[in-house]
Amino acid sequence: MIDVMIEAVKSVKSILDGGVHTTKSKGYADFVTDADIAVQEKITAVLQKNYPDCRMVSEENGLTEVTDLPTFILDPIDGTTNFSYKMGFSAVSLGYSENKKVISAVVFEPVRKEIFYAEENKGAYLNDKKIKVNGADKLKDCLIAIGTSPYERRGIEKRFQMFEKIFKNCLDIRRTGSAALDLCYTACGRLDGFLERGLKVWDFAAGMLIVKEAGGAVTDYKGNEAALNTHSDIVAGNININKELIRIIGENYAD
Ligand code: IPD
Ligand code: CA
Repeated sequence: MIDVMIEAVKSVKSILDGGVHTTKSKGYADFVTDADIAVQEKITAVLQKNYPDCRMVSEENGLTEVTDLPTFILDPIDGTTNFSYKMGFSAVSLGYSENKKVISAVVFEPVRKEIFYAEENKGAYLNDKKIKVNGADKLKDCLIAIGTSPYERRGIEKRFQMFEKIFKNCLDIRRTGSAALDLCYTACGRLDGFLERGLKVWDFAAGMLIVKEAGGAVTDYKGNEAALNTHSDIVAGNININKELIRIIGENYAD
């Protein structure tokens, strides 16, 4: 399974290298490009050839609900805004779930040619080297990525008050523009933690398993284990940092 998933994401490198030709708006600050559609079509074709009965939840195919049935969960381009601005920091994110649990995951970042992958109980890898989350004990020593939930324009003041509080309690904050990469970078120690409210399932499904298999914790804003809901609030980091972030979130900002 993981080999086919890796083959599928690698097969779209030339589409991603080709960049964007047309962009459509799906909502405020929410775009889909011709490359998103082409990547989705190509990966779907590779997966369906090998697993014809498997469901496919993907950002641009209209299916949003992960069920107990075997399901691929695809974000053809996570970080579409970065991609259309030629920023880098975008990735293909592909998870595979059974009984609403991700058991295989691959994230492909084409600029650095990095493939992050994990299988349940088998550890997490970056280009075939085992990865682990950082061991920081205290948030004050940590680099934390925040996601701004750009498509949700309600509650901005509260959200940024919380970011301010986190900034005051950590080393510094980052905003990459790709939740899948925020999770993978947390898994390999380029970041110490990440949080974002209201992520869609294809943004976090693969990265969630990669963080867990790298020894980290992935929860919602209340500290419950993250679930494959269509929308979820996500906090990731090693167990200490996850807890400290949840404590700050809990101080007035959880709702
Ligand atoms: C977005 C990115 C971004 C995050 C948004 C996501 P998309 O995914 O992951 O970092 O802040 O919440 O929706 O739309 O580029 O696939
Ligand atoms: Ca996307």
